[in-house]
Amino acid sequence: MLTDGHGRRISYLRLSVTDRCDLRCRYCMAEHMSFLPRSAVLSIEEMGALAERFVARGIRRIRLTGGEPLVRRGIDMLAGRLGALIGRGLDELTLTTNGMRLADYAPMLADAGVRRVNVSLDTLDPEAFRHITRVGDVGVALRGIDAARAAGLSVKINMVALAGLNEDQLLPMLDYCAGAGCDLTLIETMPLGEVEGDRSDHYIPLHRFITPLRAERALYPLDKRTGGPARYFGVEDSPVTLGLITPLSDNFCTTCNRIRLTVEGRIYMCLGQEDHIDLRAALREGGVGAVDGLIDLALAGKPRAHDFHIERKSKPAVARHMSATGG
Ligand code: GTP
Ligand code: 5AD
Ligand code: SF4
Repeated sequence: MLTDGHGRRISYLRLSVTDRCDLRCRYCMAEHMSFLPRSAVLSIEEMGALAERFVARGIRRIRLTGGEPLVRRGIDMLAGRLGALIGRGLDELTLTTNGMRLADYAPMLADAGVRRVNVSLDTLDPEAFRHITRVGDVGVALRGIDAARAAGLSVKINMVALAGLNEDQLLPMLDYCAGAGCDLTLIETMPLGEVEGDRSDHYIPLHRFITPLRAERALYPLDKRTGGPARYFGVEDSPVTLGLITPLSDNFCTTCNRIRLTVEGRIYMCLGQEDHIDLRAALREGGVGAVDGLIDLALAGKPRAHDFHIERKSKPAVARHMSATGG
């Protein structure tokens, strides 16, 4: 069992399998990004071996993230290898994706043992989708979601709340989710990495974002827990479970159960801080047995909470982009 320096049980590993993505969401990435060179990136074999070590040490859930995890070559082999751990230490393997390649990959994911995926979808409006993602086609994302449902996967839509960009989309998104058999989670935009423009222009606390919904339908708190950071609500007259992720307006750090492993082999103890421990050198020099002491060191140093704040015209609290750490 893994426990951090504040007595929190750490059972959830977010594994970022690439820093690359086929979209360029404005709140996530700058238009022109430089990505890691191949030599810096762990191989699929190295990631598999590390993930197995984490499970042997007490990790019970793994979420594959990126960047966009489905652009990583060999993701099918990694999903198969980690899926084989389900029931042998691992309780759950999940994936967070932008949906662009989901139509091709959904059957493979289901075969590997994935039962639920989270799909980022900030708007249903084709023009707004193109504007937010800079290059994406909303129809492709919707076909990906349909394919995931057809493959038997549960789908949760992740919608980042963006003032002036998608406030009008909450009720349509809720209706879409009801029809498609998905749940919906709203997320406050977090200050990670430089992007064009000022993120604070689009930041909106979720209690304000959901005001129009509350005016029409009652929300009631649910006990549901996934091990993730969302608080869940039922919605009057809707089958959709609504999740709220509020790192800025109401943080959830006291119950944090997570660590992150990046594609460079770094453990980030907290999304909202720069501190990290590098496993890659030890792994390449000493094999997977050589990383245990470093995992212990990382857990001992996990901070109590993040120091996110959004201020106008200030540098982001954290210099690296969300895509480098996998959210
Ligand atoms: P489930 O609850 O298992 O469905 O997953 P999840 O909501 O944790 O995963 P997902 O990958 O869909 O992430 C949703 C959002 O939560 C992303 O914006 C993540 O960056 C954010 N998130 C996940 N973990 C943390 C965390 O520890 N701290 C903060 N601040 N945000 C997090
Ligand atoms: N703040 C909040 N959420 C973000 N995501 C990406 N960048 C940010 C950010 N700066 C979301 C994506 C995806 C999830 C993994 O994180 O939309 O759903
Ligand atoms: Fe890609 Fe996700 Fe970042 Fe959008 S939010 S650019 S889909 S990693």
